[in-house]
Amino acid sequence: MMEAGHAGQIAFEDAEVPTGIDMRPVAPALIPIEAYTSPEYAARESEHLWGKVWQQACREEEIPNVGDYVTYDIVDESIIVVRTAPDEVQAFYNVCQHRGRQITKGCGNAKQFICRFHGWRWKITGETAFINDRKGYDGYLTNENTSLEPVKVESWGGWIWVNMDPDSEPLRDYLEPVATLLDPYQLEKMRYRWRQWLVFPCNWKTALEAFNESHHAAISHPQLCEWGTTPFYWCRTAGKHAWHGPAISNGPGKPGTQTCDSSIQPPDVRDPRVTLSESLNAIMEGVNSCTTDTMLAAAARVVEELPPGTPADVVAERFNQVAQEIDAERGITWPELDPDLLPETGHDWHVFPNAVILQGITYALCYRARPNGADPNSCIFETYVIERYGEGEAPSTEWVNVPDPTDPRWPEVLQQDFGNMPYVQRGMKSRGFKGARPNPRQEVPVYNFHKTLAEYMGTGAPQPLRKEA
Ligand code: FES
Ligand SMILES: [Fe+2]
Repeated sequence: MMEAGHAGQIAFEDAEVPTGIDMRPVAPALIPIEAYTSPEYAARESEHLWGKVWQQACREEEIPNVGDYVTYDIVDESIIVVRTAPDEVQAFYNVCQHRGRQITKGCGNAKQFICRFHGWRWKITGETAFINDRKGYDGYLTNENTSLEPVKVESWGGWIWVNMDPDSEPLRDYLEPVATLLDPYQLEKMRYRWRQWLVFPCNWKTALEAFNESHHAAISHPQLCEWGTTPFYWCRTAGKHAWHGPAISNGPGKPGTQTCDSSIQPPDVRDPRVTLSESLNAIMEGVNSCTTDTMLAAAARVVEELPPGTPADVVAERFNQVAQEIDAERGITWPELDPDLLPETGHDWHVFPNAVILQGITYALCYRARPNGADPNSCIFETYVIERYGEGEAPSTEWVNVPDPTDPRWPEVLQQDFGNMPYVQRGMKSRGFKGARPNPRQEVPVYNFHKTLAEYMGTGAPQPLRKEA
């Protein structure tokens, strides 16, 4: 047993993975710090990574009307994403073809795009509409050779994705198997519940890697232990992408029997009705997501309806019935999930390079991390929750900048994650640090991230970990 950072916890050096769990480990590897700290590496990312990958620019709901646009900034590039017809979105490089002024900033609605410098204009479909003193160019400038430069754009899951590489594979091919495995959750039917961002003093990968593994959950979020957080998580990879889920031997979605704190009774020996209700309320309080008001109401009703001591499977079944009834009254039909597929979808997806999705049946908690300009020690970090709503129920939301990571508007669990990130960034620069050594069974998404990144960047893959080093 080793000491952990929080009183009352045990560690898991000698704990066994629950039986029947396929952990699929990778070979232990050493990840050099260059990718996190080098200004030269960050500069090369702009071309080799961001210029090549599909990336989430915004959600469809951010541009519901024709003419609505969002300006998506990534490192030193800027892209206009605009709805050009009720069922069509286009994207253009955000640069005036006269002398290079950026055209849009933020979001809005445009009849035409107008450059503020000398007044050149374009239709929202990118064709040139006005060139100031066109005659002065003696016919050298035409509408064709001054139109806005297009960027590839496609839709999946309710997000609008852009890719600056004209030769890139189609979005769906890029996303597979993420798209097929998450399609049943109907993420495209979800709408923002809340969305916040901040500039954070760490590399965008340092930020992302606080959320693409759950190995840290029991230590960094000790309060979750009370609700059955498992000490083990299985991981899966498929090409660029990776995902993971709790290694619980008594079935997906069921409370685990092995908690991470020896002083806490396993949830399944308490009254399952009360455990369910208390855990959902604690999760809502701690994360402001990963459950819904419907589920809280359903859990409360189950406590009233069923007698104490009702077995966990009966509680779970009644809870599902009641929650679906409440949502049905709101016009929300729960998607039917294939019970064979469910254990394989886990709870946390890393969509390469910079998106994380924690999906539930009617909600998802999502993260996106981007470089903040050229500085490898700074990133823009966004957290948002999407949820299914009945017709007209979805709240009106906007991106809220909450710059202080200890601001109570950041839920407790996120504050705990934020509490690690800058110290990782600073610690990695120490002369005493050899490189990151992600757990070969439980932090496979971190390893896979750097393996894929190395392929894009043309650097070597993570080196095998040597016992003597
Ligand atoms: S730079 Fe845009 S009109 Fe001159
Ligand atoms: Fe966390």
